[in-house]
Formats: sequence, C-alpha cells, structure tokens
Amino acid sequence: MRTRKKNWTARELAENERIIKEPQNLCGKWREYFGNVNPIQLEIGCGKGKFLAASAQAFPQINFIGIERDPTILAQAARLARNTPGLSAYIISEAEAMSEYFAPGEIEVLYIQFCDPWPNKKKWAKRRLTHGRFLDIYYSLGINVIHFKTDNRALFDFSIQQFSEKNWLLRNISLDLHSTPQDTRFITEYEAKFVDLGMPIYRLEAVKPAKGDLCERPHHQTKESDSSNAVHSEKESNNKSGYIKDFG
Ligand SMILES: C[S@@+](CC[C@H](N)C(=O)[O-])C[C@H]1O[C@@H](n2cnc3c(N)ncnc32)[C@H](O)[C@@H]1O
Repeated sequence: MRTRKKNWTARELAENERIIKEPQNLCGKWREYFGNVNPIQLEIGCGKGKFLAASAQAFPQINFIGIERDPTILAQAARLARNTPGLSAYIISEAEAMSEYFAPGEIEVLYIQFCDPWPNKKKWAKRRLTHGRFLDIYYSLGINVIHFKTDNRALFDFSIQQFSEKNWLLRNISLDLHSTPQDTRFITEYEAKFVDLGMPIYRLEAVKPAKGDLCERPHHQTKESDSSNAVHSEKESNNKSGYIKDFG
C-alpha cells in the first residue's frame, strides 16, 4: 500500500491518542487501557483502517487494535478512528514484534487481510504473515481464531499448507467470497479494489489447535466444538469442492 504524506500526517502521529507510543508498556494491561473486560481483536497490516473503524463502530462490546508498519498509512487509520465511534487503538510496528506488546490470552481473534504475498521468491516466504514462524507467534499468544482473506491464490494455497502443518483447523473456506453478498461495512480498502476488478477473493478461518493436537493429530480430525470462538465472522461455510482435503 502506497500513500503520500498529507499536511496533517505529522500532527496526527504526534497528537492522536489512539496511537500507542509505547505498546510494550501495555503488555498484559490492554483491558485496563480500554477500561473494560471485553474481548480484544487485532488486525495486522491494517492499512488505512476502514475495516477496524467499521468493526469498532458496529461492535462496541469488542476492543479493536491495529498494527501497521507504515506510519504515514497508520496516521490515516488513526485519524479515521478518531472521527468514528468505538474502541480502537493503533500501533506502528512490524508484526514480528507483537509478542512484546501482548500477553498470552489477551488477543482472541486476529485478522490478516490482503497482506503482502511476497510472490515468486522462495527466500521471502518467511516474510508472509501466514508463514509457520508467524503461526508459532499467534499460537504462543493464545489467539483462538485467525480470519484470513487474500486476492492471491498462490498465497492462499501456501497459507493452507502452513496452517495445516501446524494443525490449525480450517473452516469457512471460500474460493470466491463475493459470489454471495457480503456486508459492505467490513470490506477492506484492498478488497473493494479487487472486487471492482472482478477478481475472486479467497477467505478462510483458522482455529487454534488444542494443546494435545500440536503434533499428534492431523487437522481434519480436530474437534468442531473449537469453532465457537469467533466473535465477528461470517456464519455460513462456503467450502467449494472439499478444498481442505487436498491439503490434509
Ligand atoms: C496490501 S495492504 C492491505 C491493507 C488492508 N488490510 C486492506 O485490506 O485494505 C497491506 C498492509 O500491511 C502492512 N504490512 C505488511 N507487512 C507488515 C508487517 N510485517 N507488519 C506490519 N504491517 C505490515 C503494509 O504496510 C500495508 O499497509
């Protein structure tokens, strides 16, 4: 995502209280920060923040946090949030550092939406936010459910492989999300562009493996009962053609 600095960018970054300057100081204390005990959901690579602002407005009983590494882009997300009701906070950081910001169990749901695919470069695969090394971070933080969307089929296939190797349970897989009507409030900036171009959007939800499942059980035998954890998710399953089986 590219964006030009606006004449208000520096001021927004300096003065917007939703931008957390030292997030490591809130590790384990995010509920105190939000002033409630509601669940916390996180988007990494939140871009200009349309999804987070709409979610915070629609779900006042959930606290939302966005991580974005580009300060100029994050300033736009935080500015949008400042002008929208709802509880959300913003961190300028690489996703790699998130273990410094959150204690295990603080984040329940994670969104990864239209992240960089790092295409055709094997040595860059580990930078993908669905690479196994990131899945290990998400697991260690106790994240229950990951919502993943992309326009990139190769990244989607790679991600399924990575989730499966780590025994995450996959559900609500779609190879063409917008073949059924979607709630336009939660469509991200990138998603809107790709949909306008007529491109298919790939979506899945990954549910954290139970402790005993980490090495012992292939993902397609995991318990359906784990799937009740997602708070803000599409209800219907759209698994066209038994896609999970190809990766079992
Ligand atoms: C293609 S944009 C998508 C933005 C938004 N999620 C959407 O769907 O419209 C990806 C965003 O993720 C950010 N990003 C990529 N890798 C990141 C990382 N490792 N840590 C934090 N942010 C990252 C980029 O700066 C960019 O703003």
